[in-house]
Amino acid sequence: MTAPSPDPHPLDGHLAVVTGASRGIGRATARTLAHLGATVVAGARSEADLAALAAEHPRLYALPLDVADPASLRTFATAVHEAHGAIDVLVANAGIGAFGPIEATTLEDWDRVFDVNVRGTFLIVQAFLADLRARRGHVVVVSSDVSARTFAGGALYTASKHAQRAFARALQMETAADGVRVTEIRPGVVATAFAEGTERPADEGALESADVAEAIAFALMRPTRLRIDELQLHPMGQTPEY
Ligand SMILES: NC(=O)c1ccc[n+]([C@@H]2O[C@H](COP(=O)([O-])OP(=O)(O)OC[C@H]3O[C@@H](n4cnc5c(N)ncnc54)[C@H](OP(=O)(O)O)[C@@H]3O)[C@@H](O)[C@H]2O)c1
Repeated sequence: MTAPSPDPHPLDGHLAVVTGASRGIGRATARTLAHLGATVVAGARSEADLAALAAEHPRLYALPLDVADPASLRTFATAVHEAHGAIDVLVANAGIGAFGPIEATTLEDWDRVFDVNVRGTFLIVQAFLADLRARRGHVVVVSSDVSARTFAGGALYTASKHAQRAFARALQMETAADGVRVTEIRPGVVATAFAEGTERPADEGALESADVAEAIAFALMRPTRLRIDELQLHPMGQTPEY
């Protein structure tokens, strides 16, 4: 007797929204979830990149989204609902970095990073929270390993990531009774365009975006009787710091 082969599409029937999906971790996640059977709506500002992604797979759809703009978020949520219905999975991944000493950090820098990383996470979750409660859904917040540590030159970015962690935990407390699962994904250095041109400290080695996408998929595919509160993953070349 042969063992039953594993389900090739374990996320079949799931509708997922992935923010910041035009490149990097978000694009890899959108791809991975679609290949696992989910219908995926990918959101970001770079529409040509999103269109190229959507052309890769029949279960991938693209819609313009600026998480820093409440009007764009409302338009996005309405379009998702009209085209596809209520979502089961939200991957709040859109994020930007800014690094440098506090004296050199401008108010504009501060607002730009908080508007995307913190306010954007709050607004996208709020826009889909009724769906997620109704569908006993899953929220993945892609924060960072620096959501629980910091470093000189990282005040702005790490403060925004600490805020995302606090938000994710309060969200879990408020929604657990409705069966909603919240997972914080905390990668170390990932090889993406994210820190190009910034003063982020150099590190040896980096994760691939696909490594993070697989960690997200792993959390989503656990049986609904358990939740993964957080997953922290690092390239072996990154100095262990906690
Ligand atoms: N790379 C790392 O080392 C690392 C480590 C830990 C955590 N992270 C986190 O992982 C997440 C993804 O980063 P990444 O490394 O994949 O960076 P990335 O390659 O620069 O991708 C960032 C994504 O966020 C989107 N985005 C930025 N501003 C947006 C906005 N206002 N509205 C909608 N989408 C927006 C970008 O799309 P558009 O520009 O097209 O809008 C892009 O798709 C971020 O939250 C980041 O903080 C990254």
